Amino acid sequence: MIQLHIATVITKALDNKNYQVEDVLDLLETPKHPHLGDVAFPCFTLAKYVKKSPASIASELKDKLHDSWIDRVEVKGGYLNLFVKREIASSHILKDVLNAKEGYGSMPAKNERIVIDYSSPNIAKPFSMGHLRSTVIGNSLAKISEKNGYQVVRVNHLGDWGTQFGKLIVAYKLWGSRKLVEQEPIKQLLELYVHFHAEAKKNDTLNNQARAAFKALEDGDHEALDLWKWFKEESLKEFKEVYDLLDISFDYELGEAFYNDKMKAVVSELESKKLLTLSEGAYVVELDSMPPCLITKKDGATLYATRDLAAAIYRQQTFYASKAFYVVGNEQSLHFQQLFSVLKQMGYEWADHMQHIGFGMMLKDGSKMSTRQGKVVLLAEVLVEAIQLAKETMRGKHETQEDLETVAKQVGVGAVIFHDLKNLRTHDVEFSLDHMMSFEGDTGPYVQYTFARISTLLKKGNYDYAPGHPLQFTDDYEWQVISLIDQFPRVVEQAFEQADPSQVAKYSLQLARAFNKYYAHTKILVDDEDKLSSKLSFCYAVSIVLKESLSLLGIQAPVKM
Ligand code: ARG
Repeated sequence: MIQLHIATVITKALDNKNYQVEDVLDLLETPKHPHLGDVAFPCFTLAKYVKKSPASIASELKDKLHDSWIDRVEVKGGYLNLFVKREIASSHILKDVLNAKEGYGSMPAKNERIVIDYSSPNIAKPFSMGHLRSTVIGNSLAKISEKNGYQVVRVNHLGDWGTQFGKLIVAYKLWGSRKLVEQEPIKQLLELYVHFHAEAKKNDTLNNQARAAFKALEDGDHEALDLWKWFKEESLKEFKEVYDLLDISFDYELGEAFYNDKMKAVVSELESKKLLTLSEGAYVVELDSMPPCLITKKDGATLYATRDLAAAIYRQQTFYASKAFYVVGNEQSLHFQQLFSVLKQMGYEWADHMQHIGFGMMLKDGSKMSTRQGKVVLLAEVLVEAIQLAKETMRGKHETQEDLETVAKQVGVGAVIFHDLKNLRTHDVEFSLDHMMSFEGDTGPYVQYTFARISTLLKKGNYDYAPGHPLQFTDDYEWQVISLIDQFPRVVEQAFEQADPSQVAKYSLQLARAFNKYYAHTKILVDDEDKLSSKLSFCYAVSIVLKESLSLLGIQAPVKM
């Protein structure tokens, strides 16, 4: 808001039709040191147009800048450094937040839709910490996209089809027990899967059997189909528990199997567009500067990529989206390059608006967690443990056991989500329960705690927001907080442009830290009524922005911790 206001004032003073407000806004900078001003306007590009030195443009401009927001202006080199009148700017910014509440930073609704494909775990395999990344990044991107004015379609592309089901069927028939699977479905199914791989190393015929079993499944064999359905139902029950804990839901849960009856059409379309090449009995699409994309195997079975082609076409025809995000780990980046490239060869221009939103791995003690060797941290277990730790930390702080349980869930789950989102999405994350649960460090609980602290203050001060409350600006600590609040809408925009929730997570930490610094230096619950109400309004505005930041990450904000 400050930058926008200053840009408007400068544009007017420039009075040059080549410079609209947006152009000036693009040029504005924030000086590295506060003693150099709040906003800087570099005059170098302008100098090329008007054939004067940047320094003389700056000093001429300086004399024309008169505005209630501007305290003083200094010319330094080719820069115009502006100092803002803090009491004026801050009351505008705070009023903006207090009026808009959770709508602060929201962009007007666009008539544009984004399909976000995220979470997408594999049936009969554990919901691992690896899938957590896709789930929480996707959920946060969905919220960030909505905040930026888009309509969002949330899709869970369940991995419920593929040769692994052939393996599982063979393994279950050889070594499985119905009773055990019913007791602990995913654990048992995982064990069968791991066992299959160990045995197949010694006995290669198992792999052939598995291929045949999957082919039977694709051909609609009853026994195979019944087993598959059962594996799927049992797995979904467990996934549902995780989604409930994370408070995440989807508009569509369309697994890969949903596209089975749409596969033939895709293959014949590829054929009629002369894109298929026969290669050792399999059909592929040749691609420039990439390995070919496998469409059907020797035995006619389709692949992951074939199903993704069908899914992309189906989604486009169903949702008319202007963008599509695939939130899937970096290790699948070749798959998505191939997918987009095949779609382009098919003549689908909309493939240009599809984006693979990759992310780094979740590491445990420096190495990848993989389900094959059974080295896996189960997400559900992690969440339960995090909730338990939160409960222990907060014991005695809540009036009823029920309150404690509710808040412990919000804090434990919030800690896990925040830990995942605070780093640049493309980086690997080292999983550490101890670190994520700290109430002091760069953690979710720290931001939540700051919010709860403010809520307590508002309660103690009997605060009730009414428009028109006086807002008296106090000091530098307050200004640090207010200039962060001022940046929030830009952060929301950047997080969307870079499809990176860590921008919001980092921002929330900065805001919490700045507020806590202010809080350490200022007495808030003072006797003077006007002063009290002004301070509490300021605190309330901070709490609104903290809560909204957490909400964009998919994290709740308890009022008491
Ligand atoms: N189920 C896949 C996996 O766990 C991820 C699916 C991602 N979405 C997609 N449309 N390919 O590896």
